[in-house]
Amino acid sequence: PRPILLTRHGESLHNVRGRVGGDTVLSETGELYAKKLANFIEKRLKYEKTATIWTSTLQRTILTASPIVGFPKIQWRALDEINSGVCDGMTYEEIKKNMPEEFESRKKDKLRYRYPRGESYLDVIQRLEPVIIELERQRAPVVVISHQAVLRALYAYFADRPLREVPDIEMPLHTIIEIQMGVLGVEEKRYKLMD
Ligand code: F6P
Repeated sequence: PRPILLTRHGESLHNVRGRVGGDTVLSETGELYAKKLANFIEKRLKYEKTATIWTSTLQRTILTASPIVGFPKIQWRALDEINSGVCDGMTYEEIKKNMPEEFESRKKDKLRYRYPRGESYLDVIQRLEPVIIELERQRAPVVVISHQAVLRALYAYFADRPLREVPDIEMPLHTIIEIQMGVLGVEEKRYKLMD
């Protein structure tokens, strides 16, 4: 059975500063992860000549994929991070201070909360539908390099986790989650390449 490998991009400059959204490049640590990931993929998919690498359209996922050679890369807008609308580029502290009502509403119902002029987790789940259909259709391995909220939603779908848990699923940086659909259900392996 073909594996699906899920990973967040390497640490970005916004990750370092605790800022949400944006389209920043990788930190030095993030660049190191990109190299380690390429190394891992080359070994793991050595005999899988038809594997593909899927990224979002944001720099941090494209840069994370860039050291990987030998596999075609596809950019999906549907794999872009949750749109944080008017809060884009802010820290959680700044949101709490400048928009306390928004901060509270999100805390109360993170699944349904929609950022003003942005998206909710439910919106993200909905826009992922074509990606999921295409993923299920694939016969070869796929490496998905995306973002925290999006990967929570994708992972929940494959691991059969309930909707209400999606926004709180742990999705650490610099870790690969490998999913295999076997006869006995879904098998999962994790590879933590860096701290
Ligand atoms: O902090 C990284 C990030 O990908 C942000 O860009 C995004 O807004 C956030 O994670 C999503 O996580 P949460 O829904 O927990 O805020």
